[in-house]
Parts: sequence; C-alpha cells; structure tokens
Amino acid sequence: MQMAKKLRVGILFGGRSGEHEVSLLSAASILKAIDRRKFDVVPIGINKSGHWLVSGAAQGLLENGGPAKPEAPKKLRAGDPAATPGARVLAEGQPTLLAPEPEEPAKAAALSLAGSSAIDSHAALGGQSLDVVFPVLHGTFGEDGTIQGLFELAGIAYVGSGVLGSSAGMDKDVMKRLFANARLPIVKHVTLLRAEWEKSPRKCIAQVEAALKYPVFVKPANLGSSVGISKVHNRKELAPALTLAAKYDRKLVIEAGVGGKKSKARELEVGVLGNDDPQASVVGEIVPGKEFYDYEAKYLCEGSVPVIPAKLTRAETKLIRDMAVAAFKACDLSGLARVDFLMEPDGKRRIFLNEVNTLPGFTQISMYPKLWEATGIKYKDLITRLIELALERHAEKGRTTYSREE
Ligand SMILES: Nc1ncnc2c1ncn2[C@@H]1O[C@H](COP(=O)(O)OP(=O)(O)O)[C@@H](O)[C@H]1O
Ligand SMILES: [Mg+2]
Repeated sequence: MQMAKKLRVGILFGGRSGEHEVSLLSAASILKAIDRRKFDVVPIGINKSGHWLVSGAAQGLLENGGPAKPEAPKKLRAGDPAATPGARVLAEGQPTLLAPEPEEPAKAAALSLAGSSAIDSHAALGGQSLDVVFPVLHGTFGEDGTIQGLFELAGIAYVGSGVLGSSAGMDKDVMKRLFANARLPIVKHVTLLRAEWEKSPRKCIAQVEAALKYPVFVKPANLGSSVGISKVHNRKELAPALTLAAKYDRKLVIEAGVGGKKSKARELEVGVLGNDDPQASVVGEIVPGKEFYDYEAKYLCEGSVPVIPAKLTRAETKLIRDMAVAAFKACDLSGLARVDFLMEPDGKRRIFLNEVNTLPGFTQISMYPKLWEATGIKYKDLITRLIELALERHAEKGRTTYSREE
C-alpha cells in the first residue's frame, strides 16, 4: 500500500451552546480513538464566549496517555481541565482564528487518504494548515449551519451536513415541513411566533386547543437537549409552557403528545451514515427513567437505558430504517445523522418521525456510535469513515462551477 502523508484533522469542540459539556465528552472520546496512523490531530477548543483556542502541548499530553480521563456523562464535570483534554485546551490554549477565505493552493501540499486521489481542501489556522475539520459541536452555532458557513468560506472539507441541512435539521418547524413534503408521518402540530404569543395569548391558546388534545408538548423550534420543552397536561399549564419556550426561540412548536394521557411514547433511534447513498443502522430504543426524555434524563440520571436492537417486528424495523434514510434525504443531509422516532406503546403502534440530529452525541457510549457498533462498524472506523465522507463531499462540491464560463 502506498504510504500517504497523514491528513491533518482539526477536531473542534466546546462552543457557545448549552451542550458545551456534552461536546467536551464527545471530543475526548474521539481524540482517544481516532486512528493516529492515518491522521495528525489538531484539537481546537471554542470557549463559552466563542473564542477559539489551540494547544499543541495538550495534544502531546494526550498521546502520552495524558491526564485526560473522560468522566462519566452523568457527572457533567467535563469542563474541569483535569477531566477532559478539551477542557485543558480551553484552559491553557493559545487564541486562534479560522480565516473566512480559502488558503492559497500553492501553499497547500497535495495529500491523499487510503490511496484516494489528491484532495484540494485546506485551511490555515494559527499558522498550521488543516485538511479537514470535524466539528464535534452540538446545538446552536455548531449544529445549525453557522459554523458550516465559515467552513464553506474557508474552502475546507468538514464532517457532517452542509449549511442548509444543518439549519433545517435544527429547526423543528422547517424540519416538519420537509418531512411532510416527503410524505413522512409526523405528529399533528401548531407553529406560533413568539411575537404572536406575546400580542394575543388568548387567540394562541384557542388555536392550540382547536388543533390538538392534551397532553401536548411545547418546544422552542430551535435548540436541543430538551431545553425549554414542557409536557403540558391541561390549559392551566399551557401559558407558562409557551412563555418558557419563548425564552429560547422566536418560533414555538406545539405537538400532540404521542401515547396520550395514560402512557408515554417509545423512543426509537437510528443512525444514518453516508452522502448521496446513505445507509441506516439497526434500530435502538431509549427507555427514559422519567416522564419524558428531558435534559436531566439525558445527561444526569442513570434511569435511561438503551436497548439495541429495539424490540420491534421485522416490518416495523424495516419501516423505521427506510424512513430514517428518507428523512436524511428530505433534509438534504450528509455524513451522519441520528434520526429519532416516537411510537405509540400499544394499540395501533403508530410510528412518527420526531427529528433529525445532524451532530448527535458522539462519545463511545453515545447512541449513534453504539448503533453503528451493533451494525458492524467500530468506533475508530466510524471516525475514519466520517472523515472520508467529508473529503468525498468536498470533492463532489468542487465540481460545481460558480461563475458563468467565458
Ligand atoms: N410529541 C411528543 N409526544 C411524546 N413525547 C414527546 C413528544 N415530543 C417530545 N417528546 C419527548 O420529549 C423529548 C425531547 O423532545 P425532542 O423533540 O426530541 O427535543 P430535543 O431536540 O431537545 O431532543 C423526547 O425525547 C420525548 O421524550
Ligand atoms: Mg430529541
């Protein structure tokens, strides 16, 4: 086999969102597992104020076994510099920036990965050249297309979805329109603007009650980790829930509760991997310890157990996997996504598409990597595959002409 020069991969983590700590844990796992025979790794931290930091020293520490032992997610002490390598970079790193312009091709050496043809993807960061970036960022400013826009301007390959897919996958209102357009089953819902809620609350309540029966779920359209989401059992609880959600976004989504008054929905999740011909993993199920899978249940409490594969009939499994791929295509995603479903626990066992997550939790024990592990792709190989997909997508996009040819 030809000895290719190693690719320089920037691993971006932290960020300004509420999921900063979760990102540190995902990054710690990736830094530990990434194939160092194929990749040179540049850890890049973004602190909670949005400043970018790099540290070559922290990388060295890591390679020597370092002090960095990721804490169990339930403790959420990932921000402690002794707990994760990422937190160390954030505490001790040097300020840096990614310029929103492509690096001059002359400066960038041609590199290849696993015998693939030379790639044309480079960006300069703090005097170092990067070939590809892996944004291990969850939520606002990381998963929503904003940072993807910067990578596009910098002309560098990056893991995951582009600007459009990322922002569509972040907006629960737009996402539902795309699903509906692809004839995928979604729950009944109402979308309200914060401005409408503040101006005419009575009208808004009437609109919700005309369309939906209690219980309903009230959500800010953009955000994640169940922040600002409430399960509303009656009219009395509706107004406070809308006011809470309105703190987090200018758009509010109100949905019929799957499972109704007496039971809660089953939560099924599928990993999708690929670009133009995406594949679905086996189906997994989360059994939340609490009434719904809220922030606490997700990260703090031990009650939530994943079941892989989920207990479903063959036909249900096939339907869910097909819908996951269709959802991925409907939102124009690439690289990876975790596609989440809600299912009636009994009766008709109807299945609804809930959402796509374009940068799902990525620790070795997170659902997305576990689903692929169960499907036959090991964590280390999954990381390599995602980087290959990033380069493939960049090369595909590179075929596009942006100006009129003379
Ligand atoms: N329509 C619904 N019916 C039943 N449960 C729901 C519904 N919507 C949300 N939930 C519960 O709330 C959790 C969080 O909602 P979700 O839409 O997935 O938001 P997030 O983007 O924060 O993950 C879900 O995992 C599920 O437990
Ligand atoms: Mg969710």
